[in-house]
Amino acid sequence: MRALVITLVLATLAGCVATESGEPPVVGIRNMYNQPRYDVQERQPFFADQRSMRPDVAGTVSREMEKSIPLATGRNAKGDAWLMDVPEALIARSGGRSAFLARGQDRYNIYCAVCHSISGDGKGMVSRRAASLGAAGLVATTFHDDRLRHIPDGQLYATITNGVRNMPSYAHNIPVDDRWAIVHYVRALQLSQAPAATPENTEQSQ
Ligand code: HEC
Repeated sequence: MRALVITLVLATLAGCVATESGEPPVVGIRNMYNQPRYDVQERQPFFADQRSMRPDVAGTVSREMEKSIPLATGRNAKGDAWLMDVPEALIARSGGRSAFLARGQDRYNIYCAVCHSISGDGKGMVSRRAASLGAAGLVATTFHDDRLRHIPDGQLYATITNGVRNMPSYAHNIPVDDRWAIVHYVRALQLSQAPAATPENTEQSQ
């Protein structure tokens, strides 16, 4: 008799396995389950276009938007030339040169080193992996060549902001001030590995 009862109970329980219940879960406070709201991409009847995702109201700007054109773009106010150097006012408002550089190092190591490497020679982990898979186009550039040693700071900034060829833009991940701090740090990396001055590569002033 006992064996029969146990068998019946087990059979009943087995019948419950993997069956779905259409009933809502039993919870004490239901407010979080029933939210009168539209989800992204959902259709709604209120606006004529029936989209629940609304465009920004005309003329609104995000609170973080950089209003200075040179700081935002890396070009002068007329937009016809690159800024040669990181603007001093930015360094000052960031707590001075060494704080700015330390911030740049910190951000560089987070965002750029995976591809460009800690020393900037382009042999970061992602680049090495790309090379081993034969994807030469995804190998990051070294910063230690003459062309990149001499491009203006504003152009380096714009490279981070807009991306370049196979490198994506980092504008959405890295705020404006941090992008400039990274530029400053890339300059320090370049200086740290610049070839020593010799009579052959130096213009001599007589
Ligand atoms: C996902 C890998 C990756 C990351 C992360 C990355 N880069 Fe690059 N970067 C590349 C690749 C690949 C190229 C070469 C693009 C090409 O030539 O198609 C490149 C090229 C460049 C160049 C050369 C541009 C030129 O004029 O030739 C600079 C400067 C540069 N990156 C700076 C940075 C900085 C600064 C960061 C960090 C904010 C960064 N990159 C993050 C992959 C990356």
